[in-house]
Amino acid sequence: MPEHPPPIARLRSLRSVTLRTTRCDDSAGFYNEVWGLRPVERDWGAVWLRGTGQEHHVLQLQQAEQNALGKVVFSVATPAEIDEAARRLDAHGVALVTEPGKLDQVGGGYGLRFGDPEGRLIELTANVEAVVPDDPDGHPAVPRKLAHVVLNTADIDNTCEFYTRVLGMRVSDWSEHQMAFLRCNADHHVIAFNQAPFPSVNHVAYEMPSIDHFMRGIGRLRHHGITPLWGPGRHGPGNNTFSYFADPGGLVCEYTSEVEQVVEDAWLCRVWRRTPELSDLWGTAGPPSKDVRAHMAGVPDPGYTAWWQG
Ligand SMILES: [Fe+2]
Repeated sequence: MPEHPPPIARLRSLRSVTLRTTRCDDSAGFYNEVWGLRPVERDWGAVWLRGTGQEHHVLQLQQAEQNALGKVVFSVATPAEIDEAARRLDAHGVALVTEPGKLDQVGGGYGLRFGDPEGRLIELTANVEAVVPDDPDGHPAVPRKLAHVVLNTADIDNTCEFYTRVLGMRVSDWSEHQMAFLRCNADHHVIAFNQAPFPSVNHVAYEMPSIDHFMRGIGRLRHHGITPLWGPGRHGPGNNTFSYFADPGGLVCEYTSEVEQVVEDAWLCRVWRRTPELSDLWGTAGPPSKDVRAHMAGVPDPGYTAWWQG
């Protein structure tokens, strides 16, 4: 008898993120006209946007009284794995928020939902509606897909334990005992946790197809009169480029590219010291300002039970 039940599923990718924002309409305009995502659906107080890749949508915005995480959505391969995940969640003592079944939502699919220990809503989905990639050659300097989401946590060890033990994610690297970078596929990280006084959204990163697209995207924002809060630069952990901006609601969004690809059987987790040389490999970005730190700290997230209505 193993000490712990096996992880609930093999997560294939980070599909999408839902952000609750005080400025849904303004932010939808920003993510469409400036950031480079395309709206696929609108409803009262909600907008769904896609990148050029194959995901039905990568971002959902929801009008809310305070900024918060709506949910994080991961893909699994089949509906049968969703059903098996429900049984294993039970074995882990994790209650379901939504039983496995067809999802009556934009993009459809088959899935289930549950909460993490700090009240983040997680959705696993399979059989989501297909879309044709917008731009196979990637000429416009717009995001292809979600790269990662970084979440502030009040207990990084307990949170990492949940995502590794229950969700089967692997820790790729630590940045001292301040940040943990977790993967579910070859991308160095699709989610990272940052130790903080309270849980909140730190930032959401979007993958540009190349470093040229990354720089041209920054250029397009400059033409809109928007300059980076931090960057451009290249991080040590993940070796990805970064440039951080604030959306109209004050949530932080990042353009990134060239994230390190992990060979699962060969990778060894490292601990990075938080020095300027290791955090900013090019030496172009300098240390993060008070302003970007305040945006990344955000406001305390009360968790999905504060607003979830089933
Ligand atoms: Fe990032």
